Order: sequence, then C-alpha cells, then structure tokens
Amino acid sequence: MDPSPIALPYFDALLASLEAGDPDLELAFGRHVHWGYWENPRTATQTAADFGAAAEHLTQAVYRAAQVTEGDRVLDVGCGFGGTIASLNENFQQLELTGLNIDPRQLERARQQVRPQHQNSITFVEGNACALPFADHSFDRVLAVECIFHFPDRRQFFQEALRVLKPGGRLALSDFVPTPLLLPLIQLNRAIVKDPGFYGQVQSACTLADYRALAQSVGLTVAVEQDITRNTLPTYDYLWQLGTAMKPVDWSAWSQTATIALVSRLALLQYLILGFAKPC
Ligand SMILES: C[S@@+](CC[C@H](N)C(=O)[O-])C[C@H]1O[C@@H](n2cnc3c(N)ncnc32)[C@H](O)[C@@H]1O
Repeated sequence: MDPSPIALPYFDALLASLEAGDPDLELAFGRHVHWGYWENPRTATQTAADFGAAAEHLTQAVYRAAQVTEGDRVLDVGCGFGGTIASLNENFQQLELTGLNIDPRQLERARQQVRPQHQNSITFVEGNACALPFADHSFDRVLAVECIFHFPDRRQFFQEALRVLKPGGRLALSDFVPTPLLLPLIQLNRAIVKDPGFYGQVQSACTLADYRALAQSVGLTVAVEQDITRNTLPTYDYLWQLGTAMKPVDWSAWSQTATIALVSRLALLQYLILGFAKPC
C-alpha cells in the first residue's frame, strides 16, 4: 500500500483498526470519516450504528446545500473512503461521480467499497485539492466534506473549485469555523504547540467573515450558511466513549478532541455547512 504524502495520524490509526476487522469502527467510520448530524441531538444513543447513521445524515446535508440533481457531474474533493460518492450513487441516477484524495491508501479502500449503480459512473483520482487535475468547467457540483482545514490553502482551493465548476455550478462544504473570540487562542496554541498531533496539519482560523470575503474575492456568491453545531455535539460523547475504551489511551487524540468539544459547547467554534454559487 502506497504511503500518504501528508501526515494524517488519525487515518493511520483508523486504517490499521479497519484492517484488523474492528466491527464497531467499521460501522462508525468505515464509510464516512467525519462528525455526525442528529436532527434531534437528544435521540443519539452512542452506538456505532447510530453514529454511522448520523455521519450519513451529515453527508446528505452537505450535498443538499449543493443542490445536486440527476445527471450532474459531481466532484467530491478530499473524498476519504468514498462515503459521499457512495451516498450519491445510492440516492441519484445518471451522475458522473469523481472522488479526489491526496492519500492513495484511502482511494484503494474507496475503489473496493463503492460500485456504480443507477446508471451512475464513478472514478477515484489521486490529487491535491489545491491543484485539481481537471479541465476548466468540468463539473456541475464540487463538494468538500469536513476536509478543507487540511488543504494547503483555502484561497487556492476556492480558485480551483471556481475554475473546474461550470457557469451556474455550486460548491458546498462543511467546516469548523471559529468565532472571532477564539482566534487569539488558536494563534497562541499554534505558537506553543509545534507537533500537529493526532489530526495532522489543520488550519482552523477561517471565520465566517473570512469565508464571505474569500468567496467575494474569487467571484463566488454565498448561497447557504447553515450552523449545525448543536446537531453535531453528540459526536463528542461518542468519541469520548471510543477514546476511553482504547488501551493504551492516545493522549494526543484525547486532548485535541476534548479541546474541540469544549470550544464547540461554548459556542466559540461553529460547525457550518456553506454553499457557494458560480455566476451563470
Ligand atoms: C476528515 S477526512 C474527510 C473525508 C471525507 N470527506 C469524509 O467526509 O468522509 C479529511 C480528508 O481530506 C483529505 N485531504 C487532506 N488534504 C488533502 C489535499 N490537499 N487534497 C485532497 N485531499 C486531502 C484526507 O486524505 C481525508 O480523506
């Protein structure tokens, strides 16, 4: 198996556990590798199956923000194990689906897991979100589910997404977005902590105002701003349960996740779904 060109310790751990046949991780993270969405957070049951279902709901919320319709050409950037492509493949017809990822190990699993149906076509491509290997005006929709914080540069990704979108096309993504109050803490943390830790390199200092300015400067219109923070909070209870069951406990994973949980519960960090439209 080819190594990943970027350091993603959480994917190293996940791939090893999936390969070892961990049934709970297969249910929770075997398809999607992102937070869950609970319409009513009180209904969360902290089981792997419940978490897997909530992760599927989050994916659907992101592609609803992109207004995917039958026959579209859809690019899913940072496609993980192909879960978003799998969901689109199950729920739509005649889509031309392309999943792009920088990590060949994830693409290998995606190719094994996802087979086209409903007259859809599926291609998985290795590449970098900031240098998309596609011609101008190739796609109706571009998606980026919970991955933009890993990309080398948000502006470069937005410019690339705009370039590959057809006129009238849409980009939708989900991201952890700090409120301005959190920015000094993020900067302090960056200055003190040099090891990126369990989640690898993460750029988490893009506020909603930054997103609006970025969209405007590249020529995209903001179409959707959906705050789903409260719907994602049961994720932290599930991750807490997973983390404490691990022997030995991974302290890097534990402390990073506990910090994200705390600032999310304090409403300093929002989980947003954002949609953008390219002018016709
Ligand atoms: C949290 S995972 C989300 C995966 C998938 N979108 C999902 O929701 O299941 C982040 C993903 O971003 C990918 N990624 C990180 N940097 C990338 C880059 N520069 N270009 C393309 N993909 C990248 C990682 O390999 C990983 O699959």
